[in-house]
Amino acid sequence: MSVHEFLDLAVRWVHLIAGIMWIGNSMLFNWLDRNLEKPPERKDEPGYEGKLWMVHSGGFYELEKKQLAPGQLPERLHWFKWQNFTTWASGISLLVVVYYMNGGAFLIDPSVREMGLPQAISISVGSLVGAWLVYDVSWRVLGPRAPTAAGLLSLVALLGLSYFYTRVFSGRAAYLHVGVLLGTVMTGNVWMVIVPSQRKLVAATASGQAQDFALNKKAKQRSIHNNYMTFPLLFVMLSNHFPGTYGHPLNWLVLFVLMFAGAGIRHFMNIRFGKPPVLWLVPIALIALLSTLLLFALTARPAAATPSTQAAGADAGVQRVAFAEVQAVISARCLSCHAQTPTEPMFPVPPNNVMFDTPAQIQGYAARIKERAYVNRTMPFINKTGMDDAERALLGRWVDEGAHLD
Ligand code: HEC
Repeated sequence: MSVHEFLDLAVRWVHLIAGIMWIGNSMLFNWLDRNLEKPPERKDEPGYEGKLWMVHSGGFYELEKKQLAPGQLPERLHWFKWQNFTTWASGISLLVVVYYMNGGAFLIDPSVREMGLPQAISISVGSLVGAWLVYDVSWRVLGPRAPTAAGLLSLVALLGLSYFYTRVFSGRAAYLHVGVLLGTVMTGNVWMVIVPSQRKLVAATASGQAQDFALNKKAKQRSIHNNYMTFPLLFVMLSNHFPGTYGHPLNWLVLFVLMFAGAGIRHFMNIRFGKPPVLWLVPIALIALLSTLLLFALTARPAAATPSTQAAGADAGVQRVAFAEVQAVISARCLSCHAQTPTEPMFPVPPNNVMFDTPAQIQGYAARIKERAYVNRTMPFINKTGMDDAERALLGRWVDEGAHLD
């Protein structure tokens, strides 16, 4: 295992654990807030928000939410902020390990835009910092008076920047940057707005002063934003397993569909409490169905561009593909990376341990070869070996013919 691979593994593991803890906690608190109940005798008690009972881990939990009277601060108070920080810090480290290191192999795609590594990293860092500033300032200035305008501005900026990323970085890096952007905004919200307002709340309670409700409102606003960002963010974090999304010519549109679907589903999950299922399950099902249909419509390949081979095979006039031709194409276009000892300096070991040295190996990966080289054209990696359309079609036909070895 190379040092680079080890770093990737270690940081990714931490990132996943911290991310589960952070998002898991935030979902639990959302759930708690919405399930609190006020007993009739405490309905009008000032500062009392309700209580609930839970059963878990071999016992019962009794939980209450309330504002404390001035001077009533408990000795030990639990905060929930380091899970967020660890997720963000490990995420940024992963950005460096996967996208900035290794010569920017995963960041820069010359077929999208030629650029040097320093330029690509500057765009990456600059856009992330800039995005936070635009978002934060617009909510500080417009948020209290015109939240709709601030919301629209943030949305347009997010969509604009997402589109921009797909025009300057490789598809995979573009998607990931949208995720880093959302994660950075969420972390900024936690550390620059939510935690400071909670600190002031705690300080006011400790020193026996009244609370500033404007602060609470501002913090609540940002925590609602974070809530809506979670599902889109989680899709983006998974997206590198789905080359059919980021590798699509309209990858920005595919991303928009999935982000809106994620935020929409989150919305109906938020409002579901106390409502009959038709009011939230049906909209969720509709969003899921609609976005799935849209996704398939968007990512379907035009049939005309793909000489259908089942039909062609039946047609005596069309020649069957010879495996020798397939192997020649694979050797020329894939073997520099996908071999026992790759010759491509970027990848000292075969990526994903996928190797095409023998006919059996090629045949074993037939379905993925069709998917990556022909359907969504995300292999060869950044088309480094210059594969052309005829070669892609040849591989597609060979797989459709049953991936034979003759
Ligand atoms: C310049 C190096 C390079 C070349 C050339 C290359 N690949 Fe890849 N391949 C990669 C990298 C990097 C990954 C892992 C990242 C990913 O999956 O996008 C990968 C992953 C794969 C995978 C495993 C992931 C999956 O989706 O199943 C398959 C299959 C694959 N490549 C097929 C091909 C085929 C077919 C060709 C030739 C047409 C090819 N590759 C040429 C670098 C390369």
